[in-house]
Amino acid sequence: MKYNDLDLEKWKEIDINVDSLWLINERDKSGKHTNIYHGNFIPQIPNQLIRRFTKKNEIVFEPFMGSGTTLFECENLHRKYIGFDINPEMINYVNTKMNNDIFYKDYYYSLCDVTKNIKVKKEIKAAFDKFKTYNFHFILMHPPYLDIIKFTNNKNDLSNIKDISLFKKKFIQVCKNCLPYLEDGRYFALVIGDIYKNREVIPLSFYLFNSIKENFEVKLKGIIIKNIEGNRGKLGKGGIWRYRALKSDYYLFKHEYIFVFKKG
Ligand SMILES: C[S@@+](CC[C@H](N)C(=O)[O-])C[C@H]1O[C@@H](n2cnc3c(N)ncnc32)[C@H](O)[C@@H]1O
Repeated sequence: MKYNDLDLEKWKEIDINVDSLWLINERDKSGKHTNIYHGNFIPQIPNQLIRRFTKKNEIVFEPFMGSGTTLFECENLHRKYIGFDINPEMINYVNTKMNNDIFYKDYYYSLCDVTKNIKVKKEIKAAFDKFKTYNFHFILMHPPYLDIIKFTNNKNDLSNIKDISLFKKKFIQVCKNCLPYLEDGRYFALVIGDIYKNREVIPLSFYLFNSIKENFEVKLKGIIIKNIEGNRGKLGKGGIWRYRALKSDYYLFKHEYIFVFKKG
């Protein structure tokens, strides 16, 4: 089954990264992309994944929309977009970016707690009615990294969960609410990093990876390690963090993961 528009006759010119190590140091700041949301994507991540795993006019679903990075990439790449988020401020922010857009109407996003099965069902149905379809073609998940960055005060916001077991349980619930709508044989990706808590590494990415593998019929197609942009370095704080690490016994996180799965 063809699941992208890549023209392999011209394979030498295709700028899709097929390596398991992605080093992206310059954030794409073009078009609607701004860097206003702490914990948002570098646009190149959704761009690469959308072009690799979907065709034009297909549907990308994102349960943790945030500031709309993936939506703006879908607009640039002529894909349809469905996205949810629990943060009303982000819905308002994305509204300001999309309201005056007279050319692109192929999107549906809403304020939705993706742990709530009935609400998710209702919103997905509304989106499918709009697009006259019944499947997603690609899912991109970028959940909070436990409670490292708190997004809202809503108790159902995953970023308010401190306990890893509860976090895993809620994350599995989100997958149960979304994955049935992904077309069989299609792909989804989880972008996630590890964290420190109580002077110890919590390998959150491995926990969530395992939660998916243990609970769903999926094949693992890729583990990509992506560098974390040097924010600390740019703020001139790189040295302080390095000094603190040297004085103690930990390592500075410089990478996160993109897990790519195929359904079925
Ligand atoms: C890491 S951010 C996503 C950032 C996004 N990729 C971007 O580029 O802006 C995680 C998002 O998950 C949202 N979120 C947390 N719990 C949620 C829930 N239960 N339902 C829906 N969204 C949730 C947060 O509000 C936050 O915007």
